[in-house]
Amino acid sequence: MIRSRIIGCGSYLPEKILTNDDLSRFVETNNSWIVERTGIRERHIAAEGETTADLAEQAARKALSAAGIEANALDLLVLATSTPDNTFPATATRVQARLGMTGGVAFDVQAVCAGFVCALSVADSFIRSGQARTALIIGAETYSRILDWSDRTTCVLFGDGAGAAVLSAEESPGTTADRGVLAVKMHSDGRHYDALYVDGGVSTTQTAGHLRMNGREVFRHAVGNLASVATEAMAAAGVAPEAIDWLVPHQANARIIEATAKKLGLPMEKVVMTVDRHANTSAASIPLALCEAVADGRVKPGQLLVMEAIGGGFVWGAAVVRW
Ligand code: ACO
Repeated sequence: MIRSRIIGCGSYLPEKILTNDDLSRFVETNNSWIVERTGIRERHIAAEGETTADLAEQAARKALSAAGIEANALDLLVLATSTPDNTFPATATRVQARLGMTGGVAFDVQAVCAGFVCALSVADSFIRSGQARTALIIGAETYSRILDWSDRTTCVLFGDGAGAAVLSAEESPGTTADRGVLAVKMHSDGRHYDALYVDGGVSTTQTAGHLRMNGREVFRHAVGNLASVATEAMAAAGVAPEAIDWLVPHQANARIIEATAKKLGLPMEKVVMTVDRHANTSAASIPLALCEAVADGRVKPGQLLVMEAIGGGFVWGAAVVRW
C-alpha cells in the first residue's frame, strides 16, 4: 500500500522575543501568574510588515532543504493558518510562487489550532489516493495581529511562528512497522463556536477583529477531546499507547499538555514541550515542536509519534506517525 512519509521538516520563528516581564509593562499581569497557569515564559512576535507568508516561506525552504526536494517537484502545498495575509487569494499561493513551485496545487486550510493535523490529513489523503506524490504542509501564524493587547486574559497566551514538513509517497507493506502516517482522525463540534473566536470578519464586520476566548470553557473540553481523539487514532493505527515514543502536542498550555499525557498514560519524558518559549502559535505549534525534537536528535527514525491538537470551532484531531 501507499503511505505518506515525512521526509523533512523545517521551522521559523521571528527574531523579536517578548517575555512575560515585557508584557507586564503594558498590561496588568506578571511572570509568576503566566508561568503558573500556562507554563509560558516568552513568545516570538513578527516584525512590522512581516506576514504569515514570510514566516511560512522561511519554514518551507528549510523543510524542502532537509528533504532534499526542489519546490518544482511538489504536487501539493497545504498551508494551515487562521491569520492569512489577505482574505484571498490563499496565502499558500503566495508561498507557492515565492518557492518557485509552478505546477500542482496550493491552498489554505482553516482549522485554527488543529490546522496542522488537518493539513497532514489532507496531504495524506491526496497521496494515498494517488492525486499527489510529494506534498508540502505548513502551519504558519501571526496571532500578534489579532490579539487585543489590552486583554490580559488572552494576549499573554499566543505567539507567532511557522513550521513545515514534506511528505512523500512510499510503497509499504501495510503493517504497523511502516514508516509514515499510520492514521489521522479529526472531529469538530460547532456548538462551541463562541467559546473561542475572532470578533470580526469579512462577512460580518468587514474588520479583522480580535481573539476572544472563554478560557475555562476551552480548558474543560480540551483534555477530554484530545485524549479521546489520540486514543481513536492509535486504535485506527493498530498501536498501543505503550508503543508511543513521543507525544508531540499542540502547545497551548502546559497544564493541558500534562493532563492529556496523564490521561493517555504517557510520562512527561515522552512529551515534546516548547510552549515555555513559543507560547501558543496555533497551526504552527506542532511542526515547531516536531522540528525542534528532530533537530536535537530526540526523534529518531522508526520511532512512533502521536500529534494532537484542538482549537476554535471546536475542531480537534490526532495523527499517528512512524518517523
Ligand atoms: N495575569 C494576571 N491575572 C490574570 C491574567 C493575567 N494574564 N488573566 C486572568 N487573570 C486573573 C483573572 O482576572 C482572575 O482574577 P479574579 O479571580 O480576580 O477574577 C484570575 O486571574 C483567575 O482567572 P481564570 O480565568 O479563572 O484563570 P484560570 O486558572 O482559568 O486560567 C487560562 C486562565 C490560563 C486562560 C486557562 O483557563 C486556560 O489555560 N484555558 C485554556 C485556554 C487556552 O489554552 N487557549 C488557547 C487557545 S485554544 C487551544 O489552543 C487549545
